[in-house]
Amino acid sequence: MNFWRHIAKPIIGLSPMDGVTDASFRFITAKYGPPDLTVTEFVNVEAALYAPHTLIRDFAYSEIERPVIAQIYGHTPELFYKVAHVIGELGFDGLDINMGCPAKTVASKGSGAGLILKPELAQSIIRAAHQGIEDWSAGQTLDDLGLKPALIQGVLDLNRHRTQREFLPWSPTGKTEANSSTPMGRNPEREPPVKAGARVEGARRAIPVSVKTRLGYDDVVVEEWIQTLLEEKPAAITLHGRTLKQQYKGNADWDAIARAVEIAKNSDTLILGNGDLKDMADVYRRVRETKVDGVLIGRAAQGEPWIFRAKEQVKQALRSQGEAMSHAAPVSLAERYRVMLEHCDHFARHTQIHSFVGMRKHLAWYCKGSPGAAELRAQMVRVKDIDEVAERLRAYASSLGTAFVADRPPAWPEAHAPQP
Ligand SMILES: Cc1cc2nc3c(=O)[nH]c(=O)nc-3n(C[C@H](O)[C@H](O)[C@H](O)COP(=O)(O)O)c2cc1C
Repeated sequence: MNFWRHIAKPIIGLSPMDGVTDASFRFITAKYGPPDLTVTEFVNVEAALYAPHTLIRDFAYSEIERPVIAQIYGHTPELFYKVAHVIGELGFDGLDINMGCPAKTVASKGSGAGLILKPELAQSIIRAAHQGIEDWSAGQTLDDLGLKPALIQGVLDLNRHRTQREFLPWSPTGKTEANSSTPMGRNPEREPPVKAGARVEGARRAIPVSVKTRLGYDDVVVEEWIQTLLEEKPAAITLHGRTLKQQYKGNADWDAIARAVEIAKNSDTLILGNGDLKDMADVYRRVRETKVDGVLIGRAAQGEPWIFRAKEQVKQALRSQGEAMSHAAPVSLAERYRVMLEHCDHFARHTQIHSFVGMRKHLAWYCKGSPGAAELRAQMVRVKDIDEVAERLRAYASSLGTAFVADRPPAWPEAHAPQP
């Protein structure tokens, strides 16, 4: 099932961010947004060989996130072939190949945006991923590939702890049943658990392969580059409107993105634009101007999982051609702080990131726009645990003269733990 084709356009998804869009942030965004799709942080395909535990940690997800896409990077087609099997086995809805990361450690090895300089290798990688998905869906197993027992066990554990039951492929009739019944996911009481690794008939479905990339390496070469990628028929290409050389400097070039849309017009590949979208008004304007099939939002979602709430207003305004876009109601401080605590709780219990330090940047981002934000932020970048966060928020609320009750959120049903 190619889920890309079943989402009402424009697709408005959460962009992958290494060190940011971990299982907890994606869970919170899916619960309080939700975006049309989520993407994991990028995972090095070499991890399948040398660090299976990091692959398992970064591929944890919750059913509520669907459609959920696993993003991988590297420069060895055989490893993409193998990891495609792992991604299929983990029940992801899509596989995305990172061809845009500008980091020296990645691009200088010929991975990420380094692939823009090696178009033939980039094509081989897409082909290997397609083939991996095809062979996995035809019945080839992780054992057949001789993958490490630690990796195979990790996949089994992750599946068991995520769902406690069968896979729930995304469906165009309303995400998963999980989302429609309760924002926390399915009711574990209603269905019997199945054995680890067991799967339902038809669960081996061929999932779509997509690419996320940039406009070029040193210079904008979007015309040739998009043409190269289109030859391998990816389901979608997300284009960040900058070159590798620009890193994050200057402004994203949406005119170049519009040229890519034009080139892909008669193909079956969707083009998503990405870069500098600050709010839904920006999304509305860029989609109207460039005719992209969708967008991914990255930094503007940091500390702002609610940003996706207004996505239906964008779609409606674009459908009605020219109707002014209505805006989502602002989020109250009380809601903001309650979600901060919920995020902390999820992070502490359900990621395999053992240090609370990884939560601090999120807490600082949540403070944006609060009265006296600087002081609160300074406190949040030093907190040790959820209790300290709650204490700081209570003190802060009382300094504002408001009665914010910063209680811990109720415990999650264990069935929804994304990981052991
Ligand atoms: C901290 C950080 C980490 C990122 N990690 C990834 C990643 O793992 N994979 C990827 O494709 N892009 C990654 N990106 C790029 C973003 O997905 C996005 O393309 C970029 O931030 C531009 O979009 P924005 O202006 O909406 O943030 C990262 C960006 C940031 C800021």
